[in-house]
Amino acid sequence: MKDILTLGIESSCDETSVAVVKNGREVLSNIINSQIKIHEKFGGVVPEIASRNHIEAISDVTKKALEEAGITFNDIDNIACTCGPGLVGALLVGVSYAKGLSYALNKPLTGTNHIEGHIAGNYISHKELKPPFLCLIISGGHTHLVHICDYDKFEILGRTKDDAIGEAFDKVARVIGLGYPGGPKVDKLAKEGEPNITLPKTHMSGLDFSFSGIKTAIINLHHKSPDINKADLCASFEKDVTDILLENTIKAAEELDIKTIALAGGVSANSYIRKQFLNLEKEGYKIYYPEPILCTDNAAMIASAGYYRFISGVTSDLTLNAVPNLKIGE
Ligand code: KG4
Ligand code: ZN
Repeated sequence: MKDILTLGIESSCDETSVAVVKNGREVLSNIINSQIKIHEKFGGVVPEIASRNHIEAISDVTKKALEEAGITFNDIDNIACTCGPGLVGALLVGVSYAKGLSYALNKPLTGTNHIEGHIAGNYISHKELKPPFLCLIISGGHTHLVHICDYDKFEILGRTKDDAIGEAFDKVARVIGLGYPGGPKVDKLAKEGEPNITLPKTHMSGLDFSFSGIKTAIINLHHKSPDINKADLCASFEKDVTDILLENTIKAAEELDIKTIALAGGVSANSYIRKQFLNLEKEGYKIYYPEPILCTDNAAMIASAGYYRFISGVTSDLTLNAVPNLKIGE
């Protein structure tokens, strides 16, 4: 069978990324231009500034991705771009650029879901991984427990009812003065602490999640006792949110009788969460997570998800639009 080269384009938040991926699994290039330094001083992503920087970066990032892959525009078989969910202005830059390329080069276009991209990060890191499996997507914007029935068939089992888990990590870090983005900083500091602070754990019915209670409890604790040990606070927060993630994931795995579990999204780079999930292997589960660069936002994962859409016959026309609240499987 002829190789299929997918050009992936990601611009849903503060990373402008373009990648070339062969047959959905082999990364030929994955250029990521992060705007973290630009947004750091604001303590979070400023949507308008993100869009403007995507516009400035996208052509150069694309050029670099083609160069590193050793190909030209003519060699591409399909263009996959993130069309949602995400910041509308940021998404529009990638979608418009991809539409322009598709029209000018006369190449197929595949609008791709960002969350499905996070799941596909696992296909790149683990060549043997195939559906069906359970996937826990934990990122700055999303917390979803999903049954991956097939490459293009998803059943959402649970989701957060309030904050995404990454949002909670970032807020806790900001309040205790660790800076932005907070997840990696909480991860590092927690290693020096003990989980000895009792925090409220919110148990939702079914397989849903809630993280706003624990986040607020930490904020209040820190305001009431500014001298509280920050490392212990981070360790306690990490332990409690991980317990909740594990509880729901195991419940779903038992209900569906599935032994393969994948983690995805920026928060799946967390070392404590990885370690606790890996412990499940002692109980007969097989645990997957992408290498760190494929956990946070990148275009290789979008190219992979776009490839599976493309080979299943799904393409988009030039009416493709950015959909900020696009649901998984849509
Ligand atoms: O997947 P991602 O790049 O963007 C979204 O699609 O939302 O995830 C970014 C999130 C941020 O909240 C960041 O703090 C978190 O992932 N993150 C981490 C770690 N690395 C990134 N959270 C906890 N521990 C980490 N090591
Ligand atoms: Zn993401």
